Amino acid sequence: AKITLRQLLDHAAERSYGVPAFNINNMEQGLAIMEAAKGCDAPVIIQASRGARSYANDIMLSKMMDALSEIYPDIPLCIHQDHGNDEATCLTAIRHGFTSVMMDGSLKADGKTPASYDYNVAITAAVSQMAHAVGASVEGELGVLGSLESGHGEAEDGHGAEGALTHDQLLTDPDQAVDFVMRTRVDALAIACGTSHGAYKFSRKPDGDILAMHVIEAIHEKLPNTHLVMHGSSSVPQELQDLINAHGGEMPQTFGVPVEEIVRGIRHGVRKVNIDTDCRMAMAGQFRKVATTNRAEFDPRKFLKPAMDAMRDLCRARFEAFGTAGNA
Ligand code: G3H
Ligand code: 13P
Ligand code: NA
Ligand code: ZN
Repeated sequence: AKITLRQLLDHAAERSYGVPAFNINNMEQGLAIMEAAKGCDAPVIIQASRGARSYANDIMLSKMMDALSEIYPDIPLCIHQDHGNDEATCLTAIRHGFTSVMMDGSLKADGKTPASYDYNVAITAAVSQMAHAVGASVEGELGVLGSLESGHGEAEDGHGAEGALTHDQLLTDPDQAVDFVMRTRVDALAIACGTSHGAYKFSRKPDGDILAMHVIEAIHEKLPNTHLVMHGSSSVPQELQDLINAHGGEMPQTFGVPVEEIVRGIRHGVRKVNIDTDCRMAMAGQFRKVATTNRAEFDPRKFLKPAMDAMRDLCRARFEAFGTAGNA
């Protein structure tokens, strides 16, 4: 059954677990997540980016979400807009059956340029009022995602900020977080702690200098009742890098957010953990493997089925690690 983000994260906080929020763009990813959840009795957050909505079409996506909730009636399912950029994106998501929206006002509507604090408060509060009036939940974001290693935001993939950012912008300020939550009435708060979107987060296994988990602890101390959200939380497993590269891939060595650091975050108020890249890599590894080991193959299902199974296993591992398993 469909539930809101607020309902799900309240339960997660009560029982001290975290919920991975997996991005989807197609049926196979949806089925992979739900199969994993069914296998370990976990509640689910499925999220769609603006890019996913234009890739799959709003009607297709929304009927797919309905189908998933009908096929898996016992799995609580929150359907979330990832990185909404303005009121219209959030409103149309709700109209298509999403039970939760992210208004990312840390960036201007172009999704690239860092926005002022006042802009962020105003647009997030407006979306909150609108969404709450119709029973949907809202996630806001304070702080801009980007690398503490380079001192730059992300630009290439269309997410995150353009150009150089100060250290301050890249780490959420705990006192400002208190003010932000009070003024916007968000149900969940995404924070910046040195993670970034995509596969290339860190050039080495992250320590406290480049992955600032202490910021999360400081925010949780001041906002013990606010559900915190970690973006850019793929772990970029070495074995998936190796699998891709063993089958013709050319991914440069990279490091993600270690699962044990996320688990530490969950002990300090993190309730929603955004993961897209790991799922993409799990599928892409299988596409490459089938393509190179069975060169005569041309049935898309022969590529998609192993890809779906690999994504299912990855999702299951996150449900188990974050304590989501057993809480459906
Ligand atoms: O926010 C980042 C997610 O990985 C979605 O990515 O905009 O390419 O669909 P996307
Ligand atoms: P990753 O790129 O680390 O999977 O992050 C996804 C994300 O934050 C979506 O909002
Ligand atoms: Na989101
Ligand atoms: Zn994100």
